[in-house]
Amino acid sequence: MVTVVVGGQWGDEGKGKIVSFLALKDKYDIVARAGVGPNAGHTVVINGKKYGLRHVPSGFVYKNAKLYIGAGVLINPKVFLDEVKLTETKNRIKIDFRCGIIEETHINKDKTDSHLAKEIGSTGTGCGPANVDRVRRTLKLAKDISMLKEFVTDVAMEINNAIKKGMKVLIEGTQGFGLSLYFGTYPYVTSKDTTASTFCADVGIGPKHVKDVIIVFKSFPTRVGQGPFPTEISEEEARRYGIVEYGTVTGRKRRVGKFDFNLAKYACIINSATQIALTCVDYIDRNAYKVREYSKLPDKVKKFIDEIEKVLEIPVTIISTGPDIYDTIDLRSEKL
Ligand code: GTP
Ligand code: IMP
Ligand code: MG
Repeated sequence: MVTVVVGGQWGDEGKGKIVSFLALKDKYDIVARAGVGPNAGHTVVINGKKYGLRHVPSGFVYKNAKLYIGAGVLINPKVFLDEVKLTETKNRIKIDFRCGIIEETHINKDKTDSHLAKEIGSTGTGCGPANVDRVRRTLKLAKDISMLKEFVTDVAMEINNAIKKGMKVLIEGTQGFGLSLYFGTYPYVTSKDTTASTFCADVGIGPKHVKDVIIVFKSFPTRVGQGPFPTEISEEEARRYGIVEYGTVTGRKRRVGKFDFNLAKYACIINSATQIALTCVDYIDRNAYKVREYSKLPDKVKKFIDEIEKVLEIPVTIISTGPDIYDTIDLRSEKL
């Protein structure tokens, strides 16, 4: 049984929070990270302790889960090894031997190439230049790097074997629909597609195995870097709502906007989403902060959820009311 988690806006929707919640609650046997690479930062907050993860899957909080990084994901070896140490996951994390490797030259290029650094506003993590080298077929792979030796395996085969045995697999996507190289606001996008089909390909799973695609939306979407943001609000207005966010990887201030129903509808269709996880409902009404029962949510929040379900025609099954894993309302048993 495979579930894929995707972002429906411009990234930073709170996928890290949702994936960690699902991994713990549903006891996934495997959590596999897909997506571009260490340009993504997933925040996991558990019992007040905060992790900003660029490589280790957010599901690491569930101690029985095996953790994988798929072949389509770029690896920065130093970032990877530091995080494995931080999360104490050495004994249960593996990376595919075909993962592409980011080197110093890629990072320098990303930071100094004026098109990438200034015009696009990339994260400067070397992902774009590394993917260029992958396409040129000159990029080093994980199997070529001796410091990664103990971690490399055939992730695709291990996951497919696990599926065959009836195990539960959670695929953690990164970035968001609006950042897709194909479907996003080109050229202001990342260096790869960021929809569910590509996330499956990243880890080596065929489409027939997927049961659910959970699309994560933030009540007030954010965007970092350049590019169109039709529903963007001013910094002053965002502050009035109490929304001030900084990027997990770059520390850049995130631009804030109102919920864009057109983009959301399109994202649901292209991802074939079956459920919606809605985060940051506490931005709609502060009284929603840390609420853990649907009946205790303010009316304003309930109305917003009704509107989303009406327009997008997909149930909102998970509601996040704060950064902590446990600040979550799970409606799956009622709505599915
Ligand atoms: P990318 O893969 O980089 O797109 O990241 P992401 O989707 O995992 O999101 P990220 O962790 O970068 O950003 C989400 C931010 O919102 C983090 O700071 C979270 O701690 C925070 N967050 C998540 N859910 C909630 C919520 O319900 N309420 C509030 N106030 N903050 C939340
Ligand atoms: P790159 O992926 O570093 O090349 O950056 C290209 C664009 O995607 C820039 O606008 C980045 O800010 C954005 N981007 C890439 N990854 C993320 C992410 O994980 N969250 C939010 N924005 C991202
Ligand atoms: Mg992020």
